[in-house]
Amino acid sequence: MKYKQGPRDEQAQESPLPLLVMESSEYSPNQCVFCNNEFGIGLYRANCLEFLDMVIGKYPEGTFDMIFADPPYFLSNGGITCRAGKMVKVDKGAWDQSKGPEINHEFNTAWLSRCQRALKPNGTLWVSGTQHVIHSVGYVMQQLGMKILNDITWEKPNPPPNLSCRYFTHATETIIWAAKNKKSKHCFNYAKMRELNHGKQMKSVWSFRPPTKEEKKFGKHPTQKPVALIERIIMASTNAGDLIFDPFSGSSTTGVAAVNLGRRFVGTELEPEFIDLSVERLQCSINNRQSSLNFDEEILMEREAAISKLKVLKGKDLVSFACRYEVHLEGR
Ligand SMILES: C[S@@+](CC[C@H](N)C(=O)[O-])C[C@H]1O[C@@H](n2cnc3c(N)ncnc32)[C@H](O)[C@@H]1O
Repeated sequence: MKYKQGPRDEQAQESPLPLLVMESSEYSPNQCVFCNNEFGIGLYRANCLEFLDMVIGKYPEGTFDMIFADPPYFLSNGGITCRAGKMVKVDKGAWDQSKGPEINHEFNTAWLSRCQRALKPNGTLWVSGTQHVIHSVGYVMQQLGMKILNDITWEKPNPPPNLSCRYFTHATETIIWAAKNKKSKHCFNYAKMRELNHGKQMKSVWSFRPPTKEEKKFGKHPTQKPVALIERIIMASTNAGDLIFDPFSGSSTTGVAAVNLGRRFVGTELEPEFIDLSVERLQCSINNRQSSLNFDEEILMEREAAISKLKVLKGKDLVSFACRYEVHLEGR
């Protein structure tokens, strides 16, 4: 389904969060533009501030198990960078322009305080950013009494060169991980992280390459995150079936990672262009997951049939069945 700006009623779909009906305004159409109830996925074209106000109104105790936020970094201010070997202006879009440190901080306070309230008591919030935004984010979290759990350094192995030769090459982003408050008993899947790190405790420095070509096959978002990065965040801090929210969904990388890992997802995004991209990406990952689930089910059914057949098999037939379906024969 392609999302296009048009009559609202035709576009609106059923909401995956029960009882959630939004008032529309000129600047914030507040529509559910993609919904899949089987996988628990919902994307809204909405201003995250208004959306969160409504969520908090309906669920005052909090409803999200985890929030991942990749807010505007406020770095599109006439600087230069290097893209594909060419010098280009840093211009991600009007949404990324700085309004000055005070107003930027006010905006960060507005969305972070709402996210904190929308989290369940033991829920956690991850926020990514560069120097342009991350210090303000960390300060707001302290002002709100959140419990900062870690600051992850995401290291990019192949950053663009620094053309001015007056600074080090910018090769990292910071991702702050915080719990709702000091009393929260946050979820951390320690064993899973250790397993991913070949049996050693995982450090807070992570290396991930930028999104692959495959991740951009429907088009790209100027600040798209790699799916693998968000998958690690989800695996670390949520369990199957948990509800994840992303206030600044962009191309819905968080939604894609959530589908891949069997978590539910709600996202908000303002720009129609990124909504279109999101809808294609979400639908594609749902289709992929659906076919891998069907495949798993077929294998399981085949295996069950083979096990029941084992009772009547003897000799070579029995051994070849056991090998094929990895069934242990001891005691049979
Ligand atoms: C840094 S990008 C997120 C990119 C995303 N993580 C991805 O992988 O594609 C921030 C996004 O937030 C959107 N945005 C900015 N202000 C917003 C608001 N108040 N409510 C909802 N979305 C907003 C922008 O249009 C932009 O797409």
